[in-house]
Amino acid sequence: MPTASFDTHFEALPSNQPTGDEIRDEILKNPGFGKHFTDHMAHIRWTVDADWHGHQVRPYGPLTLDPAASVLHYGQEIFEGIKAYRHADGSIWTFRPEKNAERFRRSARRLALPELSDEDFIGSLKALLAQDHSWVPTPASASDECSLYLRPFMIASEAFLGVRPAHEVDYYVIASPAAAYFKGGIEPVSIWLSSHYKRAAPGGTGFAKCGGNYAASLAAQKEAAANDCSQVAFLDAAENKWIEELGGMNLFFVFKDGRLVTPRLTDTILEGVTRNSVLTLAKDEGLTPEERPISIDEWREGAASGEITEVFACGTAAVITPVGELVSEEERIRLTAGGNNEVAKRIRTKLLDLQYGRSEDKYGWLTQLA
Ligand code: COI
Repeated sequence: MPTASFDTHFEALPSNQPTGDEIRDEILKNPGFGKHFTDHMAHIRWTVDADWHGHQVRPYGPLTLDPAASVLHYGQEIFEGIKAYRHADGSIWTFRPEKNAERFRRSARRLALPELSDEDFIGSLKALLAQDHSWVPTPASASDECSLYLRPFMIASEAFLGVRPAHEVDYYVIASPAAAYFKGGIEPVSIWLSSHYKRAAPGGTGFAKCGGNYAASLAAQKEAAANDCSQVAFLDAAENKWIEELGGMNLFFVFKDGRLVTPRLTDTILEGVTRNSVLTLAKDEGLTPEERPISIDEWREGAASGEITEVFACGTAAVITPVGELVSEEERIRLTAGGNNEVAKRIRTKLLDLQYGRSEDKYGWLTQLA
């Protein structure tokens, strides 16, 4: 059941040099992740005196920014990640956009940026898709997770070097055709446990989707890559004990008695839309979801005893990806039980079937974009 439709009130300024059909089709055959961009972008301007105005969809291209723009100096920036899926009848849908819109406002409040309404957030996705619908790939099979990844973001563009919330802000949406986030698709990934670096601390910005959190994770990500790991797991800053998240993905632990445990949300963890959806879908699968603190000791002991049978990461970009091992300077934590990641695969299939319109949208999670 689609949610409320939002009329788009965006002025369309179509590109006079759109990508040719053949080139686009070639890109869509093997898009990778985040490498190619569509022909247009949505834009809305905010100023302290005129609020949000100037809604446009215009040709994709470099931004003109004053070198003194506050985003370049103080990182006043937030973003979102959401996907557009092509259904078998050619129509294009997105998944729970009101959750992203709500989180975007939460992030905006924390970064002292102006809040954007559902109407403008969802309207901007629709307006962009009205121009760039041919960039949404068609899945080749039920396990194909190709989509058009949408990246709404907001930056402080006022040219002013004093440290205070900017009086001029710009919101954009760009779009990038995407295949699986990880090179190996749904092959289990190795995760690096960061010993030296923390991603977030109480009272900080961990729950907000802001560039600064991702920038702070990059040194640890570099360590991960040097140790053949594709992501980093972060522990809490206060006790260095509690599992938080992977920086761009949430974590789930499957227990052999059917419990599905994920770290309870605090202000140091980003509330993932996929995380929230997995908690609901898990119940339909007969699992018992639990949101509670889970320690690194419990991971280590549960993996060794066979109590924990699977670990998986989830996020908009990653969908659901099994975690094969946790690696640190001191140890390698591997699961002794399980190994086939059956629960992760089942929930993944359920989620993808819903997103691609192959199963009933019984929670009303889909919104038509085009
Ligand atoms: C997303 O899943 O949308 C993110 O922003 C995470 C990032 C690793 C791409």
